Amino acid sequence: MQQINVGIIGTGWCGGIRANTCAGSPLVKELHVAEINEDRLKEIVAETKPNSSTTDYMKIIENDSLDTIIISATPETTHYPMAKAALLAGKHVFLEKPLALTLEEADELIQIQKEKNLKFAIGYSQRFNHKFAYAKKSLMEKTIGEPVCVLVSRHLTRGLGKKISGRIKLSPAAMEATHDLDFVLWLMEPAKPVQVYSQAVDGAMKSVTGSADAQWIMVTMDNGVILNIGAGWTMPPGHPNYSATWIELTGTDGMLVIDDTHRDVIFNTMDNGIRLPMSTMPGESVGHVFAGPMHNETLHWIEAVAFDRPEMCSAEKARRVMEIYMAADVSAELNEAVKLPLVETPLSAVASA
Ligand SMILES: NC(=O)c1ccc[n+]([C@@H]2O[C@H](COP(=O)([O-])OP(=O)(O)OC[C@H]3O[C@@H](n4cnc5c(N)ncnc54)[C@H](O)[C@@H]3O)[C@@H](O)[C@H]2O)c1
Repeated sequence: MQQINVGIIGTGWCGGIRANTCAGSPLVKELHVAEINEDRLKEIVAETKPNSSTTDYMKIIENDSLDTIIISATPETTHYPMAKAALLAGKHVFLEKPLALTLEEADELIQIQKEKNLKFAIGYSQRFNHKFAYAKKSLMEKTIGEPVCVLVSRHLTRGLGKKISGRIKLSPAAMEATHDLDFVLWLMEPAKPVQVYSQAVDGAMKSVTGSADAQWIMVTMDNGVILNIGAGWTMPPGHPNYSATWIELTGTDGMLVIDDTHRDVIFNTMDNGIRLPMSTMPGESVGHVFAGPMHNETLHWIEAVAFDRPEMCSAEKARRVMEIYMAADVSAELNEAVKLPLVETPLSAVASA
């Protein structure tokens, strides 16, 4: 068996799931972790018993024994410098979305990856949600005929929206609809997006983090298919980090409706009222199983590196998603449709951290 050595930078929510998955995989020989929050570092060391732990991520980058580095740090300004350093050090890189903050940064990272012949994947974990995978299968097998239009509506709790939009000025399109843009572009391959129109709306979050409450994006594909993708982060609590998604995929011979609103398990107590467990985007451990996509996505990455298989979502594909959400932010600000490819990204809203 071909075992690999893995380094993880940032072991918060997502990095913690990835570290636990690596620690349980027989394909991982050594696990090394970096985390600047010392309390969190202690917790993850106790959970995963890594071969080394540090608060200095450069020790991971400089560790010659590592085959791959998983980057799960926040804020998102850390992604580009960490990924650049890891790629330059010759490591296969798995990076949480977003790939970078500008298209120029993304292009530079992809250039380094190609020059060094490395794998470089971006964490669009919803591709590992079995319902989303079923949609892809339906499209590939043409069981609903040719696609006509797609609707995806995603909402997060206000608490999670505050966490995300409080740490960086990126829009609901860049931070949430990004998952669904990736998913739907994957469904539609090989069709390409040609035009983007978007509107964002202010509400409860404006006074809290300065961000919009929700953003809707209409994308026209080169085969005429229309995508309608909306994302917001102002739902009341239903569970910590609750996420609800509704999908309608219309084809020439049928329709697929996917309810991923996580209202199938209802937990009700005198203390807290109704809660909806197992309802976060990455998922959570439930005894001997993991409910959600991030565990399987991490296993896929470990196997891609160990067996030299293609990564599910390459950085090049993630760049395509970036271009659309940046075009959406431009469109929402200018109140007009934006043609692709996007030549300029002049707005402070899409470029500043
Ligand atoms: N795919 C998904 O479903 C999904 C879900 C949530 C978040 N995300 C993405 O994953 C990333 C991580 O999100 P999260 O919710 O886990 O964030 P988090 O804030 O819970 O964790 C990030 C961790 O990085 C650590 N960190 C920061 N700087 C560091 C450094 N220099 N060296 C080492 N550690 C450092 C922080 O201390 C923190 O523990 C985000 O960029 C986000 O966009 C993806």
